[in-house]
Formats: sequence, C-alpha cells, structure tokens
Amino acid sequence: MVYKVPFVNYPLHYKNMEKEIDAAIKEVLSRGDLIMRRQMLDFENSMASFLGVKYGIGVNSCTDALIFCLMAAGIKPGDEVITVAHTFVATIEAVVHSGATPVLADVGEDFNMDADKIEQLITPRTRAILPVHFNGRVCDMEKIMKIAEKHNLIIIEDSAQALGATFSGKKGGSFGLAGCFSFYPAKILGAAGDGGLVSTDSADLAEKIRFLRDHGRKGKDEVVCYGFTSRLDNLQAAILNVKFRYLPGWIKRRRHIAGLYDKGLKGTKRVKLPPSPGSDRRYFDIYQNYVIRADKRDELALYLKENGVEIIISNPIPVHHQKALGLSHFRLPNTEQFAKEVISIPNIPELTDEQVQYVIREIKDFYK
Ligand SMILES: Cc1ncc(COP(=O)(O)O)c(C=O)c1O
Repeated sequence: MVYKVPFVNYPLHYKNMEKEIDAAIKEVLSRGDLIMRRQMLDFENSMASFLGVKYGIGVNSCTDALIFCLMAAGIKPGDEVITVAHTFVATIEAVVHSGATPVLADVGEDFNMDADKIEQLITPRTRAILPVHFNGRVCDMEKIMKIAEKHNLIIIEDSAQALGATFSGKKGGSFGLAGCFSFYPAKILGAAGDGGLVSTDSADLAEKIRFLRDHGRKGKDEVVCYGFTSRLDNLQAAILNVKFRYLPGWIKRRRHIAGLYDKGLKGTKRVKLPPSPGSDRRYFDIYQNYVIRADKRDELALYLKENGVEIIISNPIPVHHQKALGLSHFRLPNTEQFAKEVISIPNIPELTDEQVQYVIREIKDFYK
C-alpha cells in the first residue's frame, strides 16, 4: 500500500542524496576498501567528536554494542543489571546474552526510566544501570548518575534512539562508562543495513570492544580473547559519512514537525502528547519517534491507516509480558498502561508540512 503519509520513505531518502551516496559506494568498491578501512575510522572519529567523547568504535549493531559493553565492563552471570521494559527487546536481550539478570524499572510520563524507581531495585548483586534514551529523549541523567555513584554502579546508555539528543547540554551516550548507538535504516542516522557504535572515554573499554568486534584479535596474529564478527562494514561507514553531514538538518526538521504536532493536537483531549520541543530547557529531544498516547488507540490506528497515514505501534505486548522471555514477574504499571495507549505517528524529515497537517486533521476527525 502506498500511504499519503508514510512512516519511512527509504527511496525518497536515498534520492535526496543519490549522487553523494553513489560516489561514496563507488569509491569503496573500486578501491576494494571493504573491512575496517579509512571510511570506518573517519566515521568513528566524527561520531566521537560529535558526541564529545574520546573514542567511537564501530560495530555491526547497537545490540552487539550493548553486549560488548556489558562484557567488556566485566558483567558476568549472577550480576544484575537494572533497565526498563518500555524499550525494544534488544536492550534486555543484551543483558541476558552478557550472562547477567535483567531487573526492570518502570518508566515515567516521558517514557524514560523513572529514576525514582531505581534505588528500590538495587541488591548486593546489582552491577550496572542501563538507561534507555527512548524516542529521542535523554533520561534524567543527573538523578541516574547520582544513584550510580552512590551505589558504585556502572552506567551503560542505550542511545539507539537518541543520536544528537542532549540533557543539560551533554549528549546522550556521553554520561556513563559507554553509550551504544544504532544505525538501523529507520534511525535518524540510518545505514543501508545494520550498523552500530560504542562511545566511551575509557581507553581500556575501547580497546576491549575493538578486540570483541574482531575475533579477539590484537594486531594481525595475536588473539587476546574469544571475540565475534561484528565490525561496522566499511561500505556502511562510507554511506554514514555522507549522511552524517545531513544530521543537524534532520534533527531540526524533526523538532519542527514535533512542534507542528504539538500546536495542532494540543486541544485534542483524548490524546496525550510527548513533551514539546523546548518545554523543559534541560532537554534537547531529537524525536526519533513522535509518540502520542491515545484513547481508543487500536481504532485510531486502523482509522489512520485506512486514511493513508502509516503508523507504528511499538510493543503492543510489553516486553516483560512476552511469554518466552520469563520476565512476567515484574509489575510495571506505566509500562503496561502505555503498551495499550502508544502510537507513533510519522515524523521523518522528508515529510512536508502539509502532510503533517493532514495527519493532525485525520486524528482530530477521528475523535469528532
Ligand atoms: C532502544 C533500542 N535499543 C537497541 C536497539 C537495537 O539496535 P540494532 O538494531 O542496531 O541492534 C534498538 C533498535 O531499534 C532500539 O530502538
């Protein structure tokens, strides 16, 4: 189905940068620069300076970035890691793959980890906090950092959805021991496939991640640990280098669209809007997703789709209620309530203001 207002538009996204992307691909292929070459190093350096950290290490996904950070930080079976269930399953998956036990905190009204719910979950086995900067908004890192310091816990930030977002002027992914980013195609900076990155100020952690992503190899011949095949492809890095130049414009555009939704939907009583851009000066949100909470959510979703608006419902089954995962003992009232109410409406930079106004009109019409 062709939507009047699509949620993603990969062909148009590519078309807007076609010449530059084609040239970057051609350069890589014609030189045979396929694995860990200049393009990957350039991208790692650009990310590190953009994020304000010393090191960026390219890996093949944010999921691997999370697993590697937990492993490299010495997390092991028997340890507990506090995170959230209102996230993509990858966050919790990574904790389990590191051998640790996930302990789930509820989220607050802004969909992010509720810092006031953390301390009650800390036990002698707790080793780390893994906050998720969801939908493009950084968690309240002032509170989370204080708790981590008080209890001597590591912080690893799941920043998959928050590249460029800041809290008190500092970028998400630069607060804790490490930040983990995703370049999945639908992300604000998306590759033509999978990609991820670890950001850190720790030379030690950076070195360990470099080993883990490349079979534990140090140099050409020495193997220092059991590792994985998880490098950021050089071809993906070349594409990301091109797209990175557009990132500030895309962030601006997403914030503009969020502003239009905020203005247009403010009076609509049966939807609850996310924080508007600039409403709290500590937060600079990049709106990876524009998520509203809607009365009669499922009917609204159907109505919008039938009228040409592509929407997404993330986690209609909260992750901790997925039977296969064995996490159903957690009671998370907000997470469970939000799973019934959330709906992500289109906010890609390629949308015109008219398309955004159309979505606003359709939502209002539904509730008439
Ligand atoms: C919050 C969050 N964490 C982790 C991931 C995993 O990222 P990747 O697909 O790069 O492994 C995603 C991807 O959607 C995500 O949204």
